[in-house]
Amino acid sequence: MPKKNRKLYSSRSQYHKKSIEDCVTTIAISDFWTNLSTSLTEILDGSNLSLILCYGLGNFMDSLQSRYQLALLLVIKKEFNVDNCLVYDPKFTDAEQVHLAEIGCDLISENEEGKRRLLPGTFVYMPHCPKQLLNNLLWANWNKDVLINSVVLCNSIDLTVTSTPDRILDKYAHYVLKIAPFAKEKQLSKHFVYEDIFNDMSLHYFPKDKLEESNNIYWERGREPVYDDEELEFITKFECLSFQN
Ligand SMILES: C[S@@+](CC[C@H](N)C(=O)[O-])C[C@H]1O[C@@H](n2cnc3c(N)ncnc32)[C@H](O)[C@@H]1O
Repeated sequence: MPKKNRKLYSSRSQYHKKSIEDCVTTIAISDFWTNLSTSLTEILDGSNLSLILCYGLGNFMDSLQSRYQLALLLVIKKEFNVDNCLVYDPKFTDAEQVHLAEIGCDLISENEEGKRRLLPGTFVYMPHCPKQLLNNLLWANWNKDVLINSVVLCNSIDLTVTSTPDRILDKYAHYVLKIAPFAKEKQLSKHFVYEDIFNDMSLHYFPKDKLEESNNIYWERGREPVYDDEELEFITKFECLSFQN
């Protein structure tokens, strides 16, 4: 890279670093965080988080929403002592990928469409993500023992199920609909500096006693979900391959 460009890149990178640090500070001293960390501590009930898995942060170098969402990830990582943090968004730019690596996040190298098998103690973070992503995650982990040991921070499942027409749920969110009776959720506080960053999101967990109300047939996993192209927000692995070519 020519010297002039290197200098420009470095000063931009410093600017973004500072801007993310400011967001981290704002969150760490907020009532919003006090509320969230209390809820998460209650859910964990003495167990630890082993890993953060984050899909769909978006372009945090351009978007204020994404920047604060990244800052929340960093605050959770620090305050709950989570060393391992995996992130993926097909829209991350090269500069964002470099930045994420610098701040201790590992990039998932391919679009797994949300179908990663969860390890015990995984905290899944999917801020304002398309329904299909959560649906795929649930499909890939459609097992009581796996879900009992996971916490998912994403758009409220209850709100999704009550506000989306059945036709759409059936098509794009069959497993979201199926998990709804067994998921418990703690809404995030509505009082954050900006209203459109953590709105409509909840911490979801799957208590053993609730899951055990269901019979084994309920947990038989159906066929892998397939979607048509109508919903533009969800990016498939085939679309990613065609961007690259
Ligand atoms: C509605 S945007 C939310 C962006 C940001 N979190 C926010 O709240 O402004 C949905 C995000 O999901 C991402 N996304 C779509 N398909 C994805 C996939 N297969 N894996 C991970 N992220 C995906 C998009 O690139 C986009 O950044």
